[in-house]
Amino acid sequence: MTMAPKPKHWDGNYGAWFKDAQVAAAYPHRPPYPAAAIHVLAQLAGAADGPSRDGRAVLDIGCGTGDVARRLAPLVNRIDAVDFSGAMIAQGQRLPGGAHPAIHWTESAVETAPLSPPYALVTAGESLHWMRWDVVLPRLRAALAPGGSLAVLNRDWDQPPALRDRLRPIFAQFSANKDYRPRNLLAELAQRGLFRERGRRRCGPEPWHPTLEEYLLCRHSQNAFAREQMGPADVAAFDAAIAAALGELCRQGAVREAGGRYLLQVEATVVWGEPMGDPD
Ligand SMILES: C[S@@+](CC[C@H](N)C(=O)[O-])C[C@H]1O[C@@H](n2cnc3c(N)ncnc32)[C@H](O)[C@@H]1O
Repeated sequence: MTMAPKPKHWDGNYGAWFKDAQVAAAYPHRPPYPAAAIHVLAQLAGAADGPSRDGRAVLDIGCGTGDVARRLAPLVNRIDAVDFSGAMIAQGQRLPGGAHPAIHWTESAVETAPLSPPYALVTAGESLHWMRWDVVLPRLRAALAPGGSLAVLNRDWDQPPALRDRLRPIFAQFSANKDYRPRNLLAELAQRGLFRERGRRRCGPEPWHPTLEEYLLCRHSQNAFAREQMGPADVAAFDAAIAAALGELCRQGAVREAGGRYLLQVEATVVWGEPMGDPD
């Protein structure tokens, strides 16, 4: 039976926009994952049955600048951090923790990357949707130690709801990804028989206090708002619309501001389970 095609807006060609140097440069402005999310990952890495060949080895797929790998490295024996964007990896290597000896950075597509299994845990922070699921999920299944998990993480920094609602039409107007449709990654994987969930945890909230400039850069670290793809006129109009919306919400009291910083929060969801599927 052939597998339903992936939703179009998650096509790998869009994922490749993370190779842009400007996206990589903006990425460190994203809020860090809450500490509780990293703690859940460390626990999962220790939960696989039996010692893996290399102690608690972790594979971080679509590692980007290492928002997961750099935090997890001191808590595990080895973390293989794989990403096809050399710009994201180079940025990650320069960030705090990027030179930790437990991290092995590899610039490669996850579909074909050299792996060193068995892994006690595979982490996918905001990345799996871009990949070829029919290839990657069976690969991960084969690479995990018995009882090992795939953990899929996402940050939510769109709170409060008034901010999310106010920004939604601006996003719809300016998104460079014209194929965008709201979809649930885990539901899509489960429908295709590629993932069986074992558990999930909502982590945080933790405070996140960006300046306007940092907030805008954070938005431009998002694939749909990559500056190279939007073009300068749309970037300027998008930035002005976001700044106006934030200003209005502050005046209404829906968003709080102090010392030139917005008093926002970040939460994360960690869902873990078993990757499924057979290789072709
Ligand atoms: C939104 S970033 C997430 C980075 C990091 N995991 C985090 O949680 O912040 C998505 C990353 O997935 C990478 N990516 C997308 N498709 C990929 C693929 N097929 N192989 C390797 N990396 C991929 C992109 O280059 C990008 O760095």
